[in-house]
Amino acid sequence: MQILKYMFQQHGDERGQLISLEEFHDIPFEIKRVYYMYETKPDVRRGFHAHKSLQQILICIHGTCKILLDNGKEKKIVPLEKPYEGLYVSSNMWREMYDFSPDAVLMVLASDYYKEEDYIRDYDKFLKSIEKEI
Ligand code: TYD
Repeated sequence: MQILKYMFQQHGDERGQLISLEEFHDIPFEIKRVYYMYETKPDVRRGFHAHKSLQQILICIHGTCKILLDNGKEKKIVPLEKPYEGLYVSSNMWREMYDFSPDAVLMVLASDYYKEEDYIRDYDKFLKSIEKEI
């Protein structure tokens, strides 16, 4: 499984850092939704789903967390520890987010609006949907 991590351009100067993200330039899709998680309680694991067509970029803009990616054949754990790193998560990819530091803010840029019908929340159904693709 290939992990696609973007390293965003930092506009740093003596005042500090600034990152700007533009759709199609820095992010490979139209950004239709932004959401973020914060004040995540210790030992919480979130996600546990795949998407039929949604693409996302995950950015831990403060603190740290880990992302488990699972394409049905292979699993990879990706730590997100810098505000200039963006992890691309394609459709048909099971994801879990965990090990949030108390100060973690995990921001997600998404290619579509929130649509419950795009979710696959059952792991066995996810595996079956992957099989169908092959
Ligand atoms: P949930 O899917 O449980 O989050 P996660 O996959 O990170 O565990 O979402 C939590 C709640 O927020 C749930 O009631 C649905 C709602 N929600 C929205 O209304 N819009 C969104 O864009 C997202 C991601 C969630």
